[in-house]
Amino acid sequence: MISLFDRFEAAFMPNYGVPPVALARGEGSVVRGIDGTEYLDMFGGIAVSSLGHAHPALVEAVSKQVATLAHTSNLLLHEREVELAEKLLSLLGAPGRVFLANSGTEANEAALKLAIKYGKSTGRSYFVAAEMGFHGRTLGALSLTGKPSIRDQFGPFPLDVRFVPYGDADALAAAAVDGGCAAVFLEPTQGEAGVVPPPDGYMARAREITRAAGALLVADEIQSAIGRTGHWFAHQADGYLPDVLTLAKGLGGGLPIGACVGFGPAATVFEKGDHGSTFGGNPVSCAAALAVLGNVDLAHVRAVGAELRDGIEAISHPLLKGVRGRGLWLAAVLTEDRAAQVQAAAQRAGFLVNAVQPDAIRLAPPLVITSAQVRSFLTAFPSILDEAADG
Ligand SMILES: Cc1ncc(COP(=O)(O)O)c(C=O)c1O
Repeated sequence: MISLFDRFEAAFMPNYGVPPVALARGEGSVVRGIDGTEYLDMFGGIAVSSLGHAHPALVEAVSKQVATLAHTSNLLLHEREVELAEKLLSLLGAPGRVFLANSGTEANEAALKLAIKYGKSTGRSYFVAAEMGFHGRTLGALSLTGKPSIRDQFGPFPLDVRFVPYGDADALAAAAVDGGCAAVFLEPTQGEAGVVPPPDGYMARAREITRAAGALLVADEIQSAIGRTGHWFAHQADGYLPDVLTLAKGLGGGLPIGACVGFGPAATVFEKGDHGSTFGGNPVSCAAALAVLGNVDLAHVRAVGAELRDGIEAISHPLLKGVRGRGLWLAAVLTEDRAAQVQAAAQRAGFLVNAVQPDAIRLAPPLVITSAQVRSFLTAFPSILDEAADG
């Protein structure tokens, strides 16, 4: 019989390769494959499944909404989108305006168009972003993405983007200081680069540098927000407010939604007709996001995040160099490029982890993961590392 994996391979473009596991269902932080194998989900669909799988509040909100009103387009408004924008602004604690999109890359496209328009009105024409940064796969977001392997073959891009080493505030100041820079795009910690935090104070320095240069600071919090770091938004812990904030991933808890939030003058750069999306702000996705925002427990994220981090730190193993990140957004860093082997060994042991870099394992589990589940991973991790070191 032809397997689901063979059918996938025959039917889909090869851009993803064939994934190693086919999932059938999930509950909480546990997912089950089509063959009945259970796994502890330690990466949450790339930091997306904030409430885990089949959370009753998410199921109820989405089911109720789809049975009531599934779509309006942006020519008509609905209650859920207004509630969601208001809720986001109240969690942000700063006056701003929201644009709703369907994904992370689209949230960044909105931020980019906003920044282009701001640049044109102030005589600024280039952008600064970080080496190894990731902002998405559409052409605008890709042009800001600093990972040569995914960017270079699709260039040249119509935007002038200058890349600086991430975490180097002096390099940022040198690149953004001349008055021609429209915006700086930065992640508060680089997710796809391997959950790489900058030196302390870097983002606050970036805020000062961009303010002094008259450039917008766009904080791409698509991976870092919605409680992932133990704060609603990473910038709140880092003590600065960007001009523009982009969100997606964990916001919908599995339903597709993205957001671009502008503060201060950036809130009203877009005028009527400047931007839009047929599905952006879709009632079902907004209902899901409201359920997420109503059910994330930041104290829990901090407690189990610390337990996971401390537990990894306490493991002494020749393949394990250390751990980085905060909250439930961590990378176990290896001494050798054996992340693929660790991912495979973890899978055999019943844990889904993500080899985000050749030497780094990303852990971004559902924010509802329990302490007992964290401990079960910590207990199994040394033998997973043993197997990966041998294999
Ligand atoms: C920081 C960051 N920005 C943007 C994106 C793109 O989001 P999406 O895949 O929803 O388009 C990602 C996805 O990994 C991300 O981590």
